[in-house]
Amino acid sequence: MILGISIVIFVLVEGILIFSIIRYRERPGMPNPFQNHGNLKLELVWTVIPTLVLFVILFFTIRGLLYVAPENEPAASASQPRMEVTAVGHQWWWEFYYPNYHVTTADTLEVPVNTTVHVKLFSNNVIHSFWVPALTGKTDVVPGHDNTKWFVAQKEGTYTGICAEYCGTQHANMRFNVKVVNNNDFQTWVSSQQQAATAPTDPLAQKGAALFKNQCASCHGIVGVNLKQFYDTAQECSDLPGGKANGTPQCLIGPNLTHFGSRNLIAGGVLDNNTENGNCDPNNPKLTQQCNLAKWLKDPQGVKPGNDMNIGELTNDQIQQLVAYLEGLK
Ligand code: CUA
Repeated sequence: MILGISIVIFVLVEGILIFSIIRYRERPGMPNPFQNHGNLKLELVWTVIPTLVLFVILFFTIRGLLYVAPENEPAASASQPRMEVTAVGHQWWWEFYYPNYHVTTADTLEVPVNTTVHVKLFSNNVIHSFWVPALTGKTDVVPGHDNTKWFVAQKEGTYTGICAEYCGTQHANMRFNVKVVNNNDFQTWVSSQQQAATAPTDPLAQKGAALFKNQCASCHGIVGVNLKQFYDTAQECSDLPGGKANGTPQCLIGPNLTHFGSRNLIAGGVLDNNTENGNCDPNNPKLTQQCNLAKWLKDPQGVKPGNDMNIGELTNDQIQQLVAYLEGLK
């Protein structure tokens, strides 16, 4: 409506302007044009008309604001149940913890369709902003001030989310997906995510598991390896009472990798977890391009400069072992 009004005014004003410029342009020997300074009638007209137009626009603006304003969170019902998720903003990736199910994941928030998803927003570092344009507006994630928001996804599918508050060099690469699935698929997913990681049987993957314990386990957690259970990252990473005190492990800086192989995104949402389609032989640089995990392990700072993964250079054999292990963690 506002666009329509603006187009009419634009065409009218510019039309008269262009007409006047051409029709009344200066020609040699012309007298001074008629002076209308101080004409009360004219000045009233060009004040009152724009004022009226602005009031019309104000009406439509207020109507639009009321239309998009959030309603109160609906109570849980049989047709629209409610679930809770804690979204933790890290520099620069999103971690998701499901307090009702004790599941921790990263980069993809999986939720059932037609369910009120109540999101607790948590940061222990800088201010981020949780935004999934197709599902819900922005809400800041402020350290020491725990915001919440809620949304309902009415259609299955994958929706892109991003961080919408400048939070450091990789702010633009702090992405995530919201994957909306039907209720059965969600329950299946939850049950599989609740399991501890299975020990690998493949010799290459076994080497990778040993390497993980040696070199990765001080920043990353795997339930069944260096973690006893999934824990509430938000509580754990804060200095809130009951966080570190209740015997859960110290806050880990990197994502929980327990079911890494089941994820679609890695590295804070900047890379697809595309190992299955590609060949992960790091000795072949061309093929590494088709295997994002190998690419990431080879040079995490090259993929995402400034991120917390500052590791020594891994050999191609080590990369291959880690890829075999981590991608096997379904
Ligand atoms: Cu987090 Cu921008």
